[in-house]
Amino acid sequence: MINIALDGPAGSGKSTIAKAISKELNILYLDTGAMYRACGLYAYNLGVDTKDEQAVNNIIDGVKISVKYVGGAQRTYLDGVDVSEKIRENHISMMASNISAHQKVREKLVELQREIASGTDCVLDGRDIGTHVLPNARYKFYVTASLEERAKRRFLELTMKGQVVDADALKKEIAERDYNDSHRKFAPLRQADDAILLDTSNMSVDEVVNFVLEHINKGE
Ligand code: DC
Repeated sequence: MINIALDGPAGSGKSTIAKAISKELNILYLDTGAMYRACGLYAYNLGVDTKDEQAVNNIIDGVKISVKYVGGAQRTYLDGVDVSEKIRENHISMMASNISAHQKVREKLVELQREIASGTDCVLDGRDIGTHVLPNARYKFYVTASLEERAKRRFLELTMKGQVVDADALKKEIAERDYNDSHRKFAPLRQADDAILLDTSNMSVDEVVNFVLEHINKGE
């Protein structure tokens, strides 16, 4: 069975790469960030401060997150409602990062991630896939890029979707999320010891995808 873990900071291009790999190898792609985003949206809808662990713990048992695949693409549901577009709104990013720091939230979502990934060839992207969710994944990559490059990519992605964002504020926010995600106590963002480091600052998407595919095809 093939399990591919793609971890890395915000805006590193993980999801673009993961989608291309899943298409090329005809395997499942699970975007785990979408689940934390859906949790963030849930708290937001209830008016709960995502930084307040006690308040989050009080609501987390009630959250119902699921994913389905429509035409090969992941759709993410919150209480049965498709929130796939809503969770991409930029203000949800920080809520996702904040809520993802809480152990109870992570335990719940990791269980679901392992359940979806079990028994299926798949590529997962996130922050803790290679270190915590699937430590025995056959292939692990840690995808990163300079803060400037990641902020530029995210800015383009959001403006192309019609979202109005301030480039400087976005860069600051990405840096803050990086800090949050890599300094939390439970399963922080970290390169697994056996992951291959890919700095994509000066690489095209095709170059990265080809690198990953070549590596997998060689069975290394
Ligand atoms: O990949 P993303 O930007 O959609 O993820 C949003 C947030 O979710 C990210 O800032 C941290 C959290 N996250 C996480 O803690 N663990 C994962 N496996 C995926 C995402």
